[in-house]
Amino acid sequence: GTANIGVVGLAVMGSNLARNLASREGNTVAVLNRSRSKTDELVAAHPEAGFVPAFSYEEFAGSLQRPRTAVIMVKAGGATDAVIEELVRVFEPGDIIVDGGNALFTDTIRREKAVRETGINFVGMGVSGGEEGALNGPSLMPGGSDESWATLGPILRSIAAVADGEPCVTHVGHDGAGHFVKMVHNGIEYADMQLIAEAYDLIRRGTGKSPAEIADVFAEWNRGELESYLIEITAEVLRQVDAGTGRPLVDLIVDQAGAKGTGAWTVQTALSLGVPVSGIAEATFARSLSSHPEQREVSRELPGPAEDSRDALRVDDVDAFIEKIRLALYASKIVAYSQGFDEIRAGAAEYGWNIDLGRIAAIWRGGCIIRAQFLNRITEAYAATPELPVLLTAPYFVDALTRAQSAWRDVVATSARAGIPAPAFSSSLAYYDGLRAERLPAALIQGQRDFFGAHTYKRIDKPGTFHTLWSGDRTEIEAEDTH
Ligand code: 6PG
Repeated sequence: GTANIGVVGLAVMGSNLARNLASREGNTVAVLNRSRSKTDELVAAHPEAGFVPAFSYEEFAGSLQRPRTAVIMVKAGGATDAVIEELVRVFEPGDIIVDGGNALFTDTIRREKAVRETGINFVGMGVSGGEEGALNGPSLMPGGSDESWATLGPILRSIAAVADGEPCVTHVGHDGAGHFVKMVHNGIEYADMQLIAEAYDLIRRGTGKSPAEIADVFAEWNRGELESYLIEITAEVLRQVDAGTGRPLVDLIVDQAGAKGTGAWTVQTALSLGVPVSGIAEATFARSLSSHPEQREVSRELPGPAEDSRDALRVDDVDAFIEKIRLALYASKIVAYSQGFDEIRAGAAEYGWNIDLGRIAAIWRGGCIIRAQFLNRITEAYAATPELPVLLTAPYFVDALTRAQSAWRDVVATSARAGIPAPAFSSSLAYYDGLRAERLPAALIQGQRDFFGAHTYKRIDKPGTFHTLWSGDRTEIEAEDTH
Protein backbone atom coordinates (compact mmCIF):
# COMPACT_ATOMS: atom_id res chain seq x y z
CA GLY A 1 0.00 0.00 0.00
CA THR A 2 1.03 3.57 -0.69
CA ALA A 3 -1.62 5.56 1.18
CA ASN A 4 -1.24 6.34 4.89
CA ILE A 5 -4.93 7.13 5.38
CA GLY A 6 -8.20 6.43 3.58
CA VAL A 7 -11.65 7.96 3.43
CA VAL A 8 -14.84 5.96 2.77
CA GLY A 9 -17.89 7.99 1.72
CA LEU A 10 -17.29 10.85 -0.68
CA ALA A 11 -20.33 13.06 -0.24
CA VAL A 12 -19.44 16.66 0.50
CA MET A 13 -18.16 16.14 4.09
CA GLY A 14 -16.12 13.08 3.06
CA SER A 15 -14.57 14.63 -0.04
CA ASN A 16 -13.73 17.82 1.81
CA LEU A 17 -12.09 15.89 4.65
CA ALA A 18 -10.17 13.81 2.09
CA ARG A 19 -8.96 16.99 0.36
CA ASN A 20 -7.96 18.48 3.71
CA LEU A 21 -5.96 15.33 4.55
CA ALA A 22 -4.34 15.27 1.11
CA SER A 23 -3.25 18.90 1.40
CA ARG A 24 -1.06 18.14 4.43
CA GLU A 25 2.60 17.30 4.03
CA GLY A 26 3.32 13.59 4.03
CA ASN A 27 -0.23 12.33 3.49
CA THR A 28 -1.37 10.10 0.67
CA VAL A 29 -5.11 9.51 0.77
CA ALA A 30 -6.99 6.49 -0.54
CA VAL A 31 -10.64 7.13 -1.40
CA LEU A 32 -13.61 4.80 -1.76
CA ASN A 33 -17.29 5.43 -2.41
CA ARG A 34 -20.29 3.15 -2.85
CA SER A 35 -20.92 4.48 -6.35
CA ARG A 36 -17.92 4.68 -8.63
CA SER A 37 -18.91 8.00 -10.23
CA LYS A 38 -18.32 10.09 -7.08
CA THR A 39 -14.80 8.70 -6.77
CA ASP A 40 -14.03 9.40 -10.44
CA GLU A 41 -15.39 12.94 -10.13
CA LEU A 42 -13.36 13.74 -7.02
CA VAL A 43 -10.14 12.35 -8.42
CA ALA A 44 -10.64 14.19 -11.72
CA ALA A 45 -11.56 17.49 -10.05
CA HIS A 46 -8.54 17.43 -7.72
CA PRO A 47 -5.45 16.10 -9.46
CA GLU A 48 -3.33 18.15 -7.03
CA ALA A 49 -4.53 15.94 -4.16
CA GLY A 50 -2.85 12.81 -5.55
CA PHE A 51 -5.71 10.58 -4.39
CA VAL A 52 -5.41 6.83 -4.64
CA PRO A 53 -8.85 5.75 -5.85
CA ALA A 54 -10.21 2.33 -4.89
CA PHE A 55 -13.30 0.65 -6.29
CA SER A 56 -13.69 -2.23 -3.90
CA TYR A 57 -12.98 -2.78 -0.21
CA GLU A 58 -10.23 -5.26 -1.15
CA GLU A 59 -8.55 -2.70 -3.36
CA PHE A 60 -8.99 -0.04 -0.65
CA ALA A 61 -7.35 -2.25 2.00
CA GLY A 62 -4.55 -3.10 -0.44
CA SER A 63 -3.81 0.56 -1.09
CA LEU A 64 -3.24 1.36 2.60
CA GLN A 65 0.00 1.05 4.56
CA ARG A 66 -0.18 -0.93 7.80
CA PRO A 67 -1.51 -0.30 10.32
CA ARG A 68 -4.30 0.81 8.03
CA THR A 69 -6.31 3.88 9.00
CA ALA A 70 -9.68 4.64 7.41
CA VAL A 71 -12.16 7.41 8.16
CA ILE A 72 -15.82 6.64 7.44
CA MET A 73 -17.86 9.67 6.36
CA VAL A 74 -21.31 8.26 5.58
CA LYS A 75 -24.81 8.92 6.91
CA ALA A 76 -25.13 7.93 10.57
CA GLY A 77 -27.07 4.73 11.20
CA GLY A 78 -27.37 1.63 9.02
CA ALA A 79 -25.00 2.91 6.34
CA THR A 80 -22.24 3.20 8.97
CA ASP A 81 -22.80 -0.38 10.16
CA ALA A 82 -22.63 -1.64 6.57
CA VAL A 83 -19.30 0.09 5.91
CA ILE A 84 -17.84 -1.11 9.22
CA GLU A 85 -18.78 -4.68 8.32
CA GLU A 86 -16.94 -4.42 5.01
CA LEU A 87 -13.86 -2.83 6.55
CA VAL A 88 -13.69 -5.43 9.29
CA ARG A 89 -13.76 -8.08 6.55
CA VAL A 90 -10.73 -6.67 4.72
CA PHE A 91 -8.74 -5.11 7.60
CA GLU A 92 -6.41 -6.87 10.07
CA PRO A 93 -5.74 -6.63 13.81
CA GLY A 94 -4.05 -3.34 14.70
CA ASP A 95 -5.76 -1.40 11.90
CA ILE A 96 -7.92 1.61 12.80
CA ILE A 97 -11.46 2.40 11.68
CA VAL A 98 -12.63 5.94 12.44
CA ASP A 99 -16.31 6.91 12.19
CA GLY A 100 -16.49 10.65 11.50
CA GLY A 101 -20.28 10.76 11.11
CA ASN A 102 -22.77 12.17 13.62
CA ALA A 103 -23.32 8.77 15.28
CA LEU A 104 -25.35 8.33 18.43
CA PHE A 105 -22.74 7.69 21.15
CA THR A 106 -24.46 4.50 22.33
CA ASP A 107 -24.07 3.11 18.79
CA THR A 108 -20.40 4.04 18.99
CA ILE A 109 -20.01 2.22 22.31
CA ARG A 110 -21.65 -0.86 20.78
CA ARG A 111 -19.54 -0.70 17.60
CA GLU A 112 -16.29 -0.14 19.46
CA LYS A 113 -16.95 -3.20 21.58
CA ALA A 114 -17.83 -5.39 18.59
CA VAL A 115 -14.90 -4.23 16.44
CA ARG A 116 -12.44 -4.58 19.33
CA GLU A 117 -13.24 -8.32 19.45
CA THR A 118 -11.58 -8.62 16.01
CA GLY A 119 -8.41 -6.88 17.18
CA ILE A 120 -9.17 -3.88 14.99
CA ASN A 121 -9.41 -0.46 16.66
CA PHE A 122 -12.59 1.56 16.34
CA VAL A 123 -12.73 5.30 16.98
CA GLY A 124 -15.95 7.33 17.00
CA MET A 125 -15.02 10.89 16.16
CA GLY A 126 -17.14 14.02 16.32
CA VAL A 127 -16.44 16.36 13.40
CA SER A 128 -17.78 19.88 13.57
CA GLY A 129 -17.61 22.83 11.25
CA GLY A 130 -19.74 21.80 8.32
CA GLU A 131 -18.39 21.57 4.79
CA GLU A 132 -16.08 24.52 5.17
CA GLY A 133 -14.60 23.14 8.38
CA ALA A 134 -14.04 19.70 6.90
CA LEU A 135 -12.04 21.29 4.08
CA ASN A 136 -10.08 23.96 5.91
CA GLY A 137 -9.97 22.83 9.51
CA PRO A 138 -12.70 21.26 11.62
CA SER A 139 -12.93 20.84 15.37
CA LEU A 140 -12.33 17.13 15.99
CA MET A 141 -13.59 15.09 18.93
CA PRO A 142 -12.15 11.55 18.72
CA GLY A 143 -12.96 8.87 21.28
CA GLY A 144 -11.53 5.34 21.18
CA SER A 145 -8.45 3.72 22.66
CA ASP A 146 -5.15 5.34 23.69
CA GLU A 147 -3.42 3.08 21.17
CA SER A 148 -5.51 4.50 18.31
CA TRP A 149 -4.89 8.03 19.51
CA ALA A 150 -1.13 7.48 19.40
CA THR A 151 -1.40 6.82 15.66
CA LEU A 152 -4.21 9.23 14.86
CA GLY A 153 -3.16 12.18 17.00
CA PRO A 154 -0.50 13.62 14.66
CA ILE A 155 -2.69 13.25 11.55
CA LEU A 156 -5.72 14.81 13.25
CA ARG A 157 -3.64 17.63 14.67
CA SER A 158 -2.42 18.43 11.17
CA ILE A 159 -5.92 18.83 9.68
CA ALA A 160 -7.79 20.44 12.59
CA ALA A 161 -8.62 24.12 12.90
CA VAL A 162 -6.13 26.15 14.89
CA ALA A 163 -7.17 28.49 17.69
CA ASP A 164 -4.62 30.65 19.50
CA GLY A 165 -1.88 28.49 18.01
CA GLU A 166 -3.37 25.18 19.21
CA PRO A 167 -5.01 22.54 17.01
CA CYS A 168 -8.69 22.03 17.86
CA VAL A 169 -8.49 18.33 18.64
CA THR A 170 -8.03 16.27 21.78
CA HIS A 171 -8.48 12.63 22.74
CA VAL A 172 -11.84 13.16 24.42
CA GLY A 173 -12.03 9.78 26.17
CA HIS A 174 -12.60 6.11 25.42
CA ASP A 175 -15.19 4.46 23.13
CA GLY A 176 -18.20 6.78 22.68
CA ALA A 177 -16.81 9.84 24.50
CA GLY A 178 -16.07 11.77 21.31
CA HIS A 179 -19.52 11.32 19.84
CA PHE A 180 -21.08 12.11 23.22
CA VAL A 181 -19.24 15.42 23.38
CA LYS A 182 -20.13 16.19 19.74
CA MET A 183 -23.78 15.51 20.58
CA VAL A 184 -23.69 18.01 23.46
CA HIS A 185 -21.89 20.48 21.17
CA ASN A 186 -24.91 20.28 18.89
CA GLY A 187 -27.33 20.72 21.80
CA ILE A 188 -25.48 23.89 22.75
CA GLU A 189 -25.56 24.91 19.08
CA TYR A 190 -29.37 24.57 19.14
CA ALA A 191 -29.59 26.74 22.29
CA ASP A 192 -27.23 29.39 20.91
CA MET A 193 -29.24 29.60 17.67
CA GLN A 194 -32.60 29.79 19.45
CA LEU A 195 -31.36 32.53 21.79
CA ILE A 196 -30.13 34.56 18.84
CA ALA A 197 -33.46 34.04 17.09
CA GLU A 198 -35.39 35.22 20.16
CA ALA A 199 -33.18 38.31 20.42
CA TYR A 200 -33.82 39.09 16.75
CA ASP A 201 -37.56 38.64 17.15
CA LEU A 202 -37.75 40.92 20.19
CA ILE A 203 -35.68 43.62 18.52
CA ARG A 204 -37.70 43.44 15.34
CA ARG A 205 -41.08 43.50 17.01
CA GLY A 206 -40.04 45.93 19.73
CA THR A 207 -38.29 48.51 17.61
CA GLY A 208 -39.60 47.97 14.09
CA LYS A 209 -36.03 47.89 12.81
CA SER A 210 -35.55 46.16 9.46
CA PRO A 211 -33.55 42.94 9.13
CA ALA A 212 -30.70 44.91 7.56
CA GLU A 213 -30.67 47.30 10.52
CA ILE A 214 -30.75 44.36 12.92
CA ALA A 215 -27.82 42.89 10.98
CA ASP A 216 -25.89 45.98 12.06
CA VAL A 217 -26.84 45.32 15.68
CA PHE A 218 -25.48 41.76 15.46
CA ALA A 219 -22.34 42.93 13.68
CA GLU A 220 -21.81 45.37 16.54
CA TRP A 221 -22.42 42.63 19.15
CA ASN A 222 -19.86 40.51 17.35
CA ARG A 223 -17.20 43.01 18.39
CA GLY A 224 -17.92 42.48 22.10
CA GLU A 225 -18.26 39.61 24.58
CA LEU A 226 -20.80 37.86 22.32
CA GLU A 227 -18.21 37.50 19.55
CA SER A 228 -18.88 34.16 17.84
CA TYR A 229 -19.36 32.49 14.49
CA LEU A 230 -23.13 32.16 15.00
CA ILE A 231 -23.55 35.89 15.75
CA GLU A 232 -21.40 36.69 12.72
CA ILE A 233 -23.43 34.55 10.30
CA THR A 234 -26.68 35.88 11.79
CA ALA A 235 -25.72 39.35 10.54
CA GLU A 236 -24.97 37.86 7.12
CA VAL A 237 -28.31 36.07 6.90
CA LEU A 238 -30.28 39.15 8.03
CA ARG A 239 -28.54 41.35 5.48
CA GLN A 240 -29.36 39.06 2.57
CA VAL A 241 -31.87 40.52 0.09
CA ASP A 242 -33.87 38.26 -2.23
CA ALA A 243 -32.85 38.94 -5.81
CA GLY A 244 -36.30 38.34 -7.27
CA THR A 245 -38.46 40.38 -4.91
CA GLY A 246 -36.02 42.81 -3.33
CA ARG A 247 -37.31 41.78 0.09
CA PRO A 248 -35.19 40.56 3.02
CA LEU A 249 -34.59 36.86 2.43
CA VAL A 250 -35.42 36.05 6.06
CA ASP A 251 -39.00 37.21 5.40
CA LEU A 252 -39.35 34.75 2.53
CA ILE A 253 -38.00 31.65 4.29
CA VAL A 254 -40.69 29.32 5.69
CA ASP A 255 -40.61 29.69 9.48
CA GLN A 256 -40.32 25.98 10.28
CA ALA A 257 -36.94 24.90 11.67
CA GLY A 258 -35.59 21.51 10.69
CA ALA A 259 -33.53 19.18 12.85
CA LYS A 260 -31.57 16.04 12.15
CA GLY A 261 -31.79 14.65 15.66
CA THR A 262 -28.65 15.52 17.57
CA GLY A 263 -30.47 18.17 19.62
CA ALA A 264 -33.14 15.64 20.52
CA TRP A 265 -30.43 13.11 21.49
CA THR A 266 -28.84 15.67 23.78
CA VAL A 267 -32.14 16.20 25.55
CA GLN A 268 -33.07 12.49 25.67
CA THR A 269 -29.67 11.63 27.11
CA ALA A 270 -29.91 14.45 29.64
CA LEU A 271 -33.30 13.16 30.76
CA SER A 272 -31.82 9.71 31.34
CA LEU A 273 -28.89 11.18 33.22
CA GLY A 274 -31.16 13.47 35.25
CA VAL A 275 -29.36 16.61 34.08
CA PRO A 276 -31.55 19.71 33.66
CA VAL A 277 -30.54 21.03 30.23
CA SER A 278 -33.70 23.11 30.12
CA GLY A 279 -32.37 25.81 27.75
CA ILE A 280 -31.24 23.20 25.23
CA ALA A 281 -34.57 21.39 25.62
CA GLU A 282 -36.56 24.58 25.00
CA ALA A 283 -34.48 25.31 21.92
CA THR A 284 -35.17 21.82 20.59
CA PHE A 285 -38.88 22.04 21.37
CA ALA A 286 -39.07 25.51 19.80
CA ARG A 287 -38.01 23.90 16.52
CA SER A 288 -40.71 21.25 16.99
CA LEU A 289 -43.37 23.88 17.68
CA SER A 290 -42.38 25.81 14.58
CA SER A 291 -42.71 22.68 12.45
CA HIS A 292 -46.40 21.99 13.14
CA PRO A 293 -48.17 24.32 10.69
CA GLU A 294 -51.54 22.64 11.25
CA GLN A 295 -51.40 23.32 14.99
CA ARG A 296 -50.20 26.87 14.45
CA GLU A 297 -53.00 27.45 11.93
CA VAL A 298 -55.81 26.50 14.33
CA SER A 299 -54.15 28.44 17.14
CA ARG A 300 -53.82 31.75 15.33
CA GLU A 301 -57.03 33.18 16.83
CA LEU A 302 -56.10 32.45 20.45
CA PRO A 303 -56.22 35.67 22.48
CA GLY A 304 -53.00 37.57 23.09
CA PRO A 305 -52.27 40.36 25.54
CA ALA A 306 -54.86 43.17 25.68
CA GLU A 307 -52.50 45.97 24.77
CA ASP A 308 -51.02 45.58 21.35
CA SER A 309 -47.54 44.20 21.56
CA ARG A 310 -45.94 47.46 20.56
CA ASP A 311 -47.45 49.11 23.65
CA ALA A 312 -46.57 46.23 25.93
CA LEU A 313 -42.98 46.51 24.79
CA ARG A 314 -43.03 50.30 25.46
CA VAL A 315 -39.74 50.91 23.73
CA ASP A 316 -38.95 54.59 24.08
CA ASP A 317 -35.22 54.16 24.28
CA VAL A 318 -34.28 51.83 21.45
CA ASP A 319 -30.59 51.63 22.33
CA ALA A 320 -31.31 50.82 25.97
CA PHE A 321 -33.80 48.13 24.89
CA ILE A 322 -31.28 46.54 22.55
CA GLU A 323 -28.62 46.59 25.24
CA LYS A 324 -30.99 44.77 27.62
CA ILE A 325 -31.57 42.12 25.00
CA ARG A 326 -27.84 41.75 24.51
CA LEU A 327 -27.40 41.18 28.23
CA ALA A 328 -30.30 38.71 28.35
CA LEU A 329 -28.74 36.83 25.45
CA TYR A 330 -25.36 36.71 27.14
CA ALA A 331 -26.79 35.51 30.46
CA SER A 332 -28.91 32.84 28.76
CA LYS A 333 -25.92 31.72 26.73
CA ILE A 334 -23.92 31.23 29.91
CA VAL A 335 -26.77 29.06 31.21
CA ALA A 336 -26.83 26.97 28.02
CA TYR A 337 -23.09 26.27 28.19
CA SER A 338 -23.26 25.58 31.90
CA GLN A 339 -26.03 23.05 31.28
CA GLY A 340 -24.15 21.46 28.39
CA PHE A 341 -20.98 21.04 30.44
CA ASP A 342 -23.09 19.64 33.26
CA GLU A 343 -24.29 16.97 30.84
CA ILE A 344 -20.74 16.15 29.74
CA ARG A 345 -19.67 15.88 33.38
CA ALA A 346 -22.61 13.58 34.18
CA GLY A 347 -22.05 11.51 31.01
CA ALA A 348 -18.37 11.07 31.85
CA ALA A 349 -19.29 9.84 35.34
CA GLU A 350 -21.94 7.46 34.01
CA TYR A 351 -19.86 5.96 31.21
CA GLY A 352 -16.49 6.03 32.95
CA TRP A 353 -14.78 8.57 30.70
CA ASN A 354 -12.02 10.81 31.92
CA ILE A 355 -13.00 14.02 30.13
CA ASP A 356 -11.06 17.24 30.63
CA LEU A 357 -13.85 19.82 30.45
CA GLY A 358 -11.48 22.75 30.03
CA ARG A 359 -9.87 21.02 27.03
CA ILE A 360 -13.29 20.50 25.45
CA ALA A 361 -13.99 24.23 25.62
CA ALA A 362 -10.50 24.85 24.17
CA ILE A 363 -11.03 22.62 21.11
CA TRP A 364 -14.35 24.34 20.42
CA ARG A 365 -12.63 27.72 20.02
CA GLY A 366 -11.93 27.09 16.35
CA GLY A 367 -13.44 25.13 13.49
CA CYS A 368 -16.81 24.28 14.99
CA ILE A 369 -20.20 25.93 14.69
CA ILE A 370 -20.22 27.26 18.27
CA ARG A 371 -16.68 28.68 18.05
CA ALA A 372 -16.30 31.82 20.13
CA GLN A 373 -13.86 33.77 22.27
CA PHE A 374 -16.24 33.09 25.14
CA LEU A 375 -14.95 29.49 25.31
CA ASN A 376 -11.65 30.75 26.71
CA ARG A 377 -13.56 31.80 29.82
CA ILE A 378 -14.78 28.22 30.26
CA THR A 379 -11.27 26.82 29.90
CA GLU A 380 -10.06 29.32 32.51
CA ALA A 381 -12.91 28.44 34.87
CA TYR A 382 -12.02 24.73 34.82
CA ALA A 383 -8.30 25.48 35.05
CA ALA A 384 -8.96 27.40 38.26
CA THR A 385 -11.40 24.82 39.69
CA PRO A 386 -11.29 21.44 37.90
CA GLU A 387 -14.11 20.01 40.04
CA LEU A 388 -16.40 23.02 39.55
CA PRO A 389 -19.92 21.57 40.12
CA VAL A 390 -21.77 24.31 38.22
CA LEU A 391 -19.91 26.20 35.52
CA LEU A 392 -21.92 29.39 35.90
CA THR A 393 -20.72 29.75 39.50
CA ALA A 394 -17.16 30.48 38.30
CA PRO A 395 -16.23 34.07 39.26
CA TYR A 396 -16.13 35.39 35.69
CA PHE A 397 -19.63 34.12 34.97
CA VAL A 398 -21.01 35.26 38.32
CA ASP A 399 -19.77 38.71 37.44
CA ALA A 400 -21.37 38.57 33.98
CA LEU A 401 -24.67 37.31 35.40
CA THR A 402 -24.61 39.99 38.07
CA ARG A 403 -24.26 42.64 35.38
CA ALA A 404 -26.97 41.05 33.24
CA GLN A 405 -29.61 39.84 35.60
CA SER A 406 -31.82 42.88 35.94
CA ALA A 407 -31.92 43.38 32.15
CA TRP A 408 -32.53 39.65 31.73
CA ARG A 409 -35.56 39.80 34.06
CA ASP A 410 -36.88 42.86 32.22
CA VAL A 411 -36.59 41.17 28.86
CA VAL A 412 -38.33 38.00 30.04
CA ALA A 413 -41.12 40.01 31.73
CA THR A 414 -41.52 42.24 28.69
CA SER A 415 -41.74 39.34 26.28
CA ALA A 416 -44.38 37.68 28.46
CA ARG A 417 -46.41 40.90 28.67
CA ALA A 418 -46.11 41.51 24.96
CA GLY A 419 -47.03 37.95 24.07
CA ILE A 420 -43.78 37.31 22.23
CA PRO A 421 -42.43 33.80 22.82
CA ALA A 422 -38.96 33.75 24.36
CA PRO A 423 -38.82 30.17 25.65
CA ALA A 424 -35.03 29.90 25.82
CA PHE A 425 -34.58 33.27 27.53
CA SER A 426 -37.27 32.53 30.09
CA SER A 427 -36.35 28.93 30.84
CA SER A 428 -32.71 29.93 31.29
CA LEU A 429 -33.74 32.54 33.81
CA ALA A 430 -35.98 30.04 35.61
CA TYR A 431 -33.04 27.60 35.78
CA TYR A 432 -30.84 30.33 37.25
CA ASP A 433 -33.43 31.21 39.86
CA GLY A 434 -34.05 27.55 40.57
CA LEU A 435 -30.38 26.95 41.27
CA ARG A 436 -30.16 30.02 43.50
CA ALA A 437 -33.27 29.24 45.52
CA GLU A 438 -32.75 28.63 49.21
CA ARG A 439 -35.85 26.42 49.31
CA LEU A 440 -37.62 24.85 46.36
CA PRO A 441 -41.24 23.70 46.26
CA ALA A 442 -39.82 20.23 45.64
CA ALA A 443 -40.66 19.75 49.33
CA LEU A 444 -44.34 19.96 48.42
CA ILE A 445 -43.87 17.49 45.59
CA GLN A 446 -42.33 15.04 48.05
CA GLY A 447 -45.41 15.54 50.26
CA GLN A 448 -47.72 14.83 47.33
CA ARG A 449 -45.75 11.75 46.32
CA ASP A 450 -45.90 10.46 49.84
CA PHE A 451 -49.66 11.16 49.97
CA PHE A 452 -50.68 9.23 46.88
CA GLY A 453 -47.98 6.59 46.67
CA ALA A 454 -46.24 6.31 50.05
CA HIS A 455 -43.05 7.34 48.27
CA THR A 456 -41.60 8.69 51.56
CA TYR A 457 -39.60 11.83 52.28
CA LYS A 458 -36.61 12.99 54.27
CA ARG A 459 -36.71 15.74 56.89
CA ILE A 460 -34.46 18.74 57.29
CA ASP A 461 -34.29 18.38 61.07
CA LYS A 462 -33.39 14.70 61.57
CA PRO A 463 -31.92 11.76 59.66
CA GLY A 464 -33.99 8.87 58.34
CA THR A 465 -36.82 8.28 55.89
CA PHE A 466 -40.44 8.99 56.76
CA HIS A 467 -44.01 8.39 55.70
CA THR A 468 -47.16 10.06 56.97
CA LEU A 469 -50.22 7.80 57.34
CA TRP A 470 -52.29 10.12 55.14
CA SER A 471 -55.37 7.90 54.94
CA GLY A 472 -55.12 6.88 58.60
CA ASP A 473 -54.57 9.07 61.62
CA ARG A 474 -51.87 11.14 59.84
CA THR A 475 -49.14 10.32 62.28
CA GLU A 476 -45.65 9.98 60.88
CA ILE A 477 -43.73 6.71 60.83
CA GLU A 478 -40.17 5.79 59.92
CA ALA A 479 -40.07 4.02 56.58
CA GLU A 480 -37.83 2.21 54.13
CA ASP A 481 -36.21 4.60 51.67
CA THR A 482 -37.92 4.11 48.28
CA HIS A 483 -36.73 7.40 46.66
C1 6PG B 1 -21.50 20.89 13.10
C2 6PG B 1 -23.00 20.79 13.08
C3 6PG B 1 -23.46 19.66 12.22
C4 6PG B 1 -24.97 19.44 12.32
C5 6PG B 1 -25.73 20.45 11.55
C6 6PG B 1 -27.18 20.10 11.34
O1 6PG B 1 -20.99 20.87 14.21
O2 6PG B 1 -20.88 21.00 12.05
O3 6PG B 1 -23.46 20.60 14.36
O4 6PG B 1 -22.80 18.52 12.66
O5 6PG B 1 -25.26 18.21 11.81
O6 6PG B 1 -25.61 21.69 12.15
O7 6PG B 1 -27.90 19.99 12.51
P1 6PG B 1 -29.49 20.09 12.46
O8 6PG B 1 -29.91 19.67 11.09
O9 6PG B 1 -30.00 19.16 13.49
O10 6PG B 1 -29.80 21.52 12.72
